Amino acid sequence: MKVGIYPGSFDPITLGHLDVIIRASGLVDQLIIGVLKNTAKKPLFTAEERVKLIELAIKDIPDLPPVKVEAFDGLLVNFAKEKNASIIVRGLRAITDFEYELQIAQTNHKLNPAIDTVFFTTSVEYSYLSSSAVREIASFGGDIQKFVPECIVQSIYDKYKSLRSV
Ligand code: PNS
Repeated sequence: MKVGIYPGSFDPITLGHLDVIIRASGLVDQLIIGVLKNTAKKPLFTAEERVKLIELAIKDIPDLPPVKVEAFDGLLVNFAKEKNASIIVRGLRAITDFEYELQIAQTNHKLNPAIDTVFFTTSVEYSYLSSSAVREIASFGGDIQKFVPECIVQSIYDKYKSLRSV
């Protein structure tokens, strides 16, 4: 069975991520979405919240092959090995992503030559999209409906509302 890992911060999941999930799930028998717990960037949502938002976002996608969502800590290659994954999936939006992604992919391959990284070029309509842009727009009360799955829009506004009330 071919297992793939799609790792990321997913803070929060965007329509660009969802596009990669749908396309990558056709490539493997099982796709595991790995949500990095201790990201250097201080996340808006906890890892558990990010897992729940992704689960909600993929729940109603028709004909999606088995996809699991799990939080992980530490090295990605260790998580991949633990899950018997031989493929790491990443999305490439633009040339600006490439240098960083190439470096990570080559490092991971050096750490574990049995694991390869496969890149999906982001669909054009999402090539500009990032979680950080979504956070910034939502933090100012802007419209994020075109950028994230509809079912998680309110959770993002609610998060900023709860942060403002502390
Ligand atoms: O969505 P992101 O923040 O671009 O995802 C980055 C991620 C999670 C893929 C990367 O930070 C990662 O794999 N972190 C785990 C630590 C690790 O394995 N580092 C070694 C590669 S240099």
